[in-house]
Amino acid sequence: MIFADRVALPVHINSANYFPTPLNDSCYSLVRSVVKKEGILEAVSAMRATNKEIAHIALFYSRPQETWYKSCYTDVGEPDATEFATMHYDHGSEVVKMLVYLNEVTEENGPFTVLPASKKLPESITQMTIYKYLHEEIDKVKNMFDIKSNYWRWFLKDMQFRKHFMALPSPIRGTSQFGDDVLDDSPLADYLRENVLVVTSKIGNCFVFSGDRNIHRGGVVKKGERWALQVLFTPKSKKDHYVDRVKKNIKKLLRK
Ligand SMILES: [Fe+2]
Repeated sequence: MIFADRVALPVHINSANYFPTPLNDSCYSLVRSVVKKEGILEAVSAMRATNKEIAHIALFYSRPQETWYKSCYTDVGEPDATEFATMHYDHGSEVVKMLVYLNEVTEENGPFTVLPASKKLPESITQMTIYKYLHEEIDKVKNMFDIKSNYWRWFLKDMQFRKHFMALPSPIRGTSQFGDDVLDDSPLADYLRENVLVVTSKIGNCFVFSGDRNIHRGGVVKKGERWALQVLFTPKSKKDHYVDRVKKNIKKLLRK
């Protein structure tokens, strides 16, 4: 198997394990030729009417021992992980991904889960974009804090930081990575329970999704393990990125 050498890499049980592959090696060439031949590249380009290219390929390995999404609020007596832990929108504004299951995936071993009604939720794209950039900006000051945790939203592990976060004006006080904040007995959890689509499958099947516009998660394993290949597509040209297009349109409007 062409990816066998990746499997020998050290595996970190406390974080999501992913093994990127250089875009100039044999894995990339193989994946690139398959997505081109099967019309997948053409299809993902049609999704947002922008020519896409592969920007990243990685193997993902998930298993139950991972702790990167657990125990955010255990200091105030909340459970280790919520039912919808890790549900999120991807950062970025033009994120189209393909996931290939490399083993059989059941409800137990980390199925991809998506909320097909994501677009109907009240948050505007602008508001969600603010949440994403807020998170990215906060990440830039991580070195200023003595936080030992490997928790993925590190700043919310810290009570002081939570207080600062809650002091933000409500229209911008939010996060695109909200699953760990949804209490299991809340109306939002009921809504998710009724509306999410859980993608289980035999080995070798694949699907494509827009990660920046659809609430989703994958790889939260209760039992067993999951191997998946993820291929990220982004616009070929920087000018095709949504945020850049918005900036361009605003400039045009201001000139009128
Ligand atoms: Fe994602």
